[in-house]
Amino acid sequence: VIKQDESLPEARRIRIDDKNIALGEGDKQGERVKVYGRIDQLRPQKQATFIVFTDGYGSLQCILPSGPLTQTYDALTFARSTSLVLYGEMKKAPPAAKTPDNRELHVDYYEVLGTAPSDKDAITNKVSHTQDPWESDMLDNRHLVLRGEKASSVMKIRAEVDYAFRHLYKQMKIRQVSPPALVQTQVEGGSTLFGFNYYGEDSYLTQSSQLYLETVLPSMGNVYCIEKSFRAEKSLTRRHLSEYTHIEAELDFITFEDLLNHLEEMICGVVDFVLADSEIAEYVKQVNPEFKKPSRPFLRMKYTDAIDWLNAQDPPILNEEGNPHVFGDDIAEAAERKMTDAINKPIFLTHFPVEIKAFYMKKDPADLRVTESVDVLMPGVGEIVGGSMRMEGHGELEAAFNKHGIDPTPYYWYLDQRKYGTSPHGGYGLGLERFLAWLANQHTVRTCCMYPRFMGRCKP
Ligand code: 4AD
Repeated sequence: VIKQDESLPEARRIRIDDKNIALGEGDKQGERVKVYGRIDQLRPQKQATFIVFTDGYGSLQCILPSGPLTQTYDALTFARSTSLVLYGEMKKAPPAAKTPDNRELHVDYYEVLGTAPSDKDAITNKVSHTQDPWESDMLDNRHLVLRGEKASSVMKIRAEVDYAFRHLYKQMKIRQVSPPALVQTQVEGGSTLFGFNYYGEDSYLTQSSQLYLETVLPSMGNVYCIEKSFRAEKSLTRRHLSEYTHIEAELDFITFEDLLNHLEEMICGVVDFVLADSEIAEYVKQVNPEFKKPSRPFLRMKYTDAIDWLNAQDPPILNEEGNPHVFGDDIAEAAERKMTDAINKPIFLTHFPVEIKAFYMKKDPADLRVTESVDVLMPGVGEIVGGSMRMEGHGELEAAFNKHGIDPTPYYWYLDQRKYGTSPHGGYGLGLERFLAWLANQHTVRTCCMYPRFMGRCKP
């Protein structure tokens, strides 16, 4: 058992990111502080035990001089993840030590708050250094992986990106609303609906809040929401989750060109905002050293041009049936990514054929075969945004329901929007995990959320 030396100055509680600490140097006394955290690395040596200590805000080099402090039972059982409160004098570190903030804590007292079995740190080590996000071992141990530097860096970038969107929307006076997750209508096709029994009625987990956002345009002006969307995706891909965070906005009295300009402004604005924070910029640099801010304007490419581009490659990039692409084909994930990676910059892919797009999309007045629709494609990921102008006419919308084989009855409230003062409006949905896969250079969206949900995985 160790005792605190009562003659020492009282220790001030700090967090590791606290920069305002007087450092001791030579004869100059440094501030005595106490800091709560966990052992990240442990190096017992002859003259002292060196600890890299972390608290979620940074890491601190700590030195326990060999002697009473290192000879306790507690000290002998220190392990990675042991949580402690350390007391000591903060001193300037020798430059050669290359410690964070060029400082080190000279520990004079500690209390153990939570022990960790030393064999368990091997698991943390193993999983946090595994690269393959498909490995189920790593997914089962996601709770430990999240303790690692790589995984938590992505989560910290994510938190800032989420905040950046909200901040920019606020600046643009686009107001936040919170639509329901339990719904009785589909937005993006029946095949990916998660259905459930709602007090005896058929209901679904929402695929998109778009239809609800549209309903408040007349009174709220432009609106956005950041909510979960759910898709019963029946395949395993790098970029599909069953539950994802959907950033959606709806803008009233706009043109298709306005929508594209807004998207550019948001994407570039969020990147600027995130990189303006030096701590977050550092995380981005660690996970994506090659990242370059996209330059504006983004490349605008019509669907028909993309079809031509795919067919002009040598060898041509084929459709899912193994044939050259023709007008009306879906551009599948693989083809889309090949094209995006080859062009290697953000693309606005626009004017998709009516047949392959959702019922609500407005037709292009200049070419009624296509819609005023846009997918934003990013290198390494492909589609991160889907957006469009919305069909304005009541009769036209009824006909669209009919054509898609959707019973319009549950959509009475959506149809009412076209009855009471319809307007030219449009919006989009951006998958936060896909945006992050691009910004943080992640191979898959699975490492871009805390606990990924996809076919076959609902734990931890
Ligand atoms: O293109 P989607 O299906 O469009 C909509 O849902 C529109 N109603 C949105 C709107 O206009 N308000 O989805 C939009 C975006 C995609 O571009 C993608 O980034 C993301 O949502 N997304 C998914 N992300 C992860 N896993 C999935 N299964 C996703 N499905 C869509």
